[in-house]
Amino acid sequence: ASANIGVVGLAVMGSNLARNLASREGNTVAIFNRSHAKTEALLAEHPEAGFVPTASYAEFAASLQKPRTAIIMVKAGVPTDAVIQSLVDVFEPGDIIVDGGNAYFPDTIRREKAVRETGINFVGAGISGGEEGALLGPSIMPGGSDESWVTLGPILRSIAAIAEGEPCVTHVGHDGAGHFVKMVHNGIEYADMQLIAEAYDLIRRGTGKTPAEIADIFAEWNRGELESYLIEITAEVLRQIDAETGQPLVDIIVDQAGAKGTGAWTVQTALALGVPVSGIAEATFARSLSSHPEQRAVAAGLPGPEDEFEVEDTDAFIEDVRLALFASKIVAYSQGFDEIRAGAAEYDWQIDLGAISKIWRGGCIIRAQFLNRIADAYAAEPELPALLTAPYFADALSRGQAAWRRVVIAAAQAGIPAPAFSSSLSYYDGIRAERLPAALVQGQRDFFGAHTYKRIDKEGTFHTLWSGDRTEIEAEDTH
Ligand code: 6PG
Repeated sequence: ASANIGVVGLAVMGSNLARNLASREGNTVAIFNRSHAKTEALLAEHPEAGFVPTASYAEFAASLQKPRTAIIMVKAGVPTDAVIQSLVDVFEPGDIIVDGGNAYFPDTIRREKAVRETGINFVGAGISGGEEGALLGPSIMPGGSDESWVTLGPILRSIAAIAEGEPCVTHVGHDGAGHFVKMVHNGIEYADMQLIAEAYDLIRRGTGKTPAEIADIFAEWNRGELESYLIEITAEVLRQIDAETGQPLVDIIVDQAGAKGTGAWTVQTALALGVPVSGIAEATFARSLSSHPEQRAVAAGLPGPEDEFEVEDTDAFIEDVRLALFASKIVAYSQGFDEIRAGAAEYDWQIDLGAISKIWRGGCIIRAQFLNRIADAYAAEPELPALLTAPYFADALSRGQAAWRRVVIAAAQAGIPAPAFSSSLSYYDGIRAERLPAALVQGQRDFFGAHTYKRIDKEGTFHTLWSGDRTEIEAEDTH
């Protein structure tokens, strides 16, 4: 046995991760792929990596030092289950199987439980950063047992991105915790992307600036508090000219956004946990709306506002949009961290929210300066009830709120959809409201279903005899 780590599945993410592992001091990497041609191709292309090629699961297992550690990088779903079974057949108690794909966390919980019964450790690890991240340093969110972390920790630390001198990996929590946190990362990624898209759309339609000019605005924003990978790549996408037509590429790309499901999982899970992740939900639904061309074709005939949208003070409007973007972004992250906290409580995971914000500072798609402020907030107050109430964020919201309102008003008046901007503002106004019309909803529920209500002035649960004499009685709590 000559390798200390193995990789199964040599598509782009798998081979890049294998090369990353091989490039770090002390690692020897065994590789296996279902079709052996891929293994040989990788071996031939990267002789410097010193890979140990294997042609069967038995050979793969034999080439690994104990405890054997293998990272699976195959398609989520059935292919993952098949590979896990094949590894379980050749591994021994104490060995470690890591699923580095974008698995749905309930699958990870199920797999961890099943594999644990064989004495083998199963670790679901979220890996973010795309192809380049896998090669140069991703952000890694591993779950699984403490025992597996002893072996896995140093290996993952060696390949993770570095932010402020610290590797972007932490043991998130047991069983599915890592994939849960990666799922929420992707939900936040959806919100971030949608907010940026809305900002672009408002500026373009409000000021008539070209995509290249808007690219300059994003590049400028990337030097301030919005500094992030997604803002940076937005400028690059907007600057791109289509070789065939000479038009901005963004005008040539079909305006229907795809999705592989992680955003929807984040929203579904949040619904089940009762956590309002409205920014993430609107971002996910905005992709769905865009992807129904038949409906859009018919609805295109519906009327919009009479007046042309024209912004009077261009610079002031652009600054308003920047502030609205930052404020909405704070809401999206605050909601995402709420979901992680709720998930941790539900599934009994000890998740350190500050540590999560730190491992998202580098390597992953949502990496940003901003994550440092989140880390500061949790360092100052680990039990912070809502991220947006931390002093730095509360201050940013108070600085930005007037602009945020102006932008949402402008969007509504101009007939420009800004679902993520406006739902984030509604969330902000909802969460800070002294009193909500939820009181009326409780009254309605009590009226038609005797669902009862609480009173502000005394303990107990009450019901009004709506179809009788409308006196109030004390009742059993039925929620
Ligand atoms: C990452 C990305 C990665 C993938 C997304 C794309 O963190 O590296 O999130 O996981 O690119 O899943 O998701 P959609 O296809 O749903 O946009």
